Amino acid sequence: MDLTGKHIVLGLTGGIACYKSAELCRALVKEGATVQVVMTEAAERFITPVTMQALSGRPVYGSQWDAREPNNMPHINLSRAADAIVLAPCSADFIARLVQGRADELLSLMCLARPIERVPLLVAPAMNREMWAHPATQRNLAQLQADGAILLGVGSGLQACGETGDGRMLEPEELLEDLVAFFQPKPLAGRRVLVTAGPTYEAIDPVRGITNLSSGKMGFAVARAAREAGAEVTLVAGPVDLATPRGVSRVDVRSAQDMLAAVNARVEQASLFIATAAVADWRPANAADQKIKKDGSGRTPELAFAENPDILAAVAQSPRAQSGALFCVGFAAESHDLLAHAQAKRARKGVPLLVGNIGPATFGQDDNALLLVDAQGATELPRASKRELARQLISDIARRLAA
Ligand code: CTP
Repeated sequence: MDLTGKHIVLGLTGGIACYKSAELCRALVKEGATVQVVMTEAAERFITPVTMQALSGRPVYGSQWDAREPNNMPHINLSRAADAIVLAPCSADFIARLVQGRADELLSLMCLARPIERVPLLVAPAMNREMWAHPATQRNLAQLQADGAILLGVGSGLQACGETGDGRMLEPEELLEDLVAFFQPKPLAGRRVLVTAGPTYEAIDPVRGITNLSSGKMGFAVARAAREAGAEVTLVAGPVDLATPRGVSRVDVRSAQDMLAAVNARVEQASLFIATAAVADWRPANAADQKIKKDGSGRTPELAFAENPDILAAVAQSPRAQSGALFCVGFAAESHDLLAHAQAKRARKGVPLLVGNIGPATFGQDDNALLLVDAQGATELPRASKRELARQLISDIARRLAA
């Protein structure tokens, strides 16, 4: 679990998004965190402390005069115990209170009293779009960040008031992903990373094509892990049915040629290229413009193939890769003799690091096992979830980049 051992103080302020905080609290607990809920009086108008106590498994705090604390200082005790304070939802009014350093109720008092260098404050605003766009709010948000708070951003769309725009609180799963990322080490901070993922689809005619069983899960996990490690990540994805990792910029492509064009347009800015995509080796040489019809004779169509460009090999031969300005990592999906094939493939593609895995054993699965092959030899990353393996791989790559 990604938040095991973390103690989160979850602060709720007045806003309809409080109903989402129940789900967030549950998600944090499921991920292994202990959660202490603190609510303002206004928050208690939207959701009851009973609900939040049941979900967090701890009594909720709401008053600075709470006599349950032996020293009668809940603002000190609660803030000292926290690995992070998360305000979700954080109202426009509460943002203004934080900016002013107000301390006339428990939650703002606790935020003010927190040891600023040790206990991070993460803020998930929630408000009507006009309130969000108002210069006062934007000015306060800028000041809040200057004072060291981390702004988690807002969602966009239909609001409880019936208007549509920016200012909704992020969804609980988005907040969870941001929080998990927040606690990860940042060895790729300041780097730009380009990742390819998924299969490609090569058209035979407008309704048929050739593809493969790659689900894209490993590549998406790699993109997510790189972003968690602090990188600015672009993910070039073939046709897959997966949610974009938070904070990752995604470019959807279909064929190998599309993928090559998307990579070429972006690779100059990257210092790390990770090719996890299962690119089709061949495409139908002459895709038909119209659907190929049966003519009743029983004859089957003749399919001729053309070889697709090798994206990884081309990138690895570029001057930036050759000079060391761009570090290239390849993947190899094999069905047998993994080590021998991976070593041969590393040499053929001209990359410093090649990651081998057994394709049929991993396609579509949530776990995998990896074999890291470089000039010195091979290291095994034993079977684990793709998310965990991706993190291990990214920290291994970060060590190579730093060396
Ligand atoms: N790759 C690529 N472009 C291609 C084919 C492969 O960028 N046209 C990349 C993959 O993303 C992966 C690595 O090259 O990082 C190896 O892919 P794989 O399909 O295992 O190897 P192939 O080169 O296709 O070799 P073979 O089919 O002989 O196994």
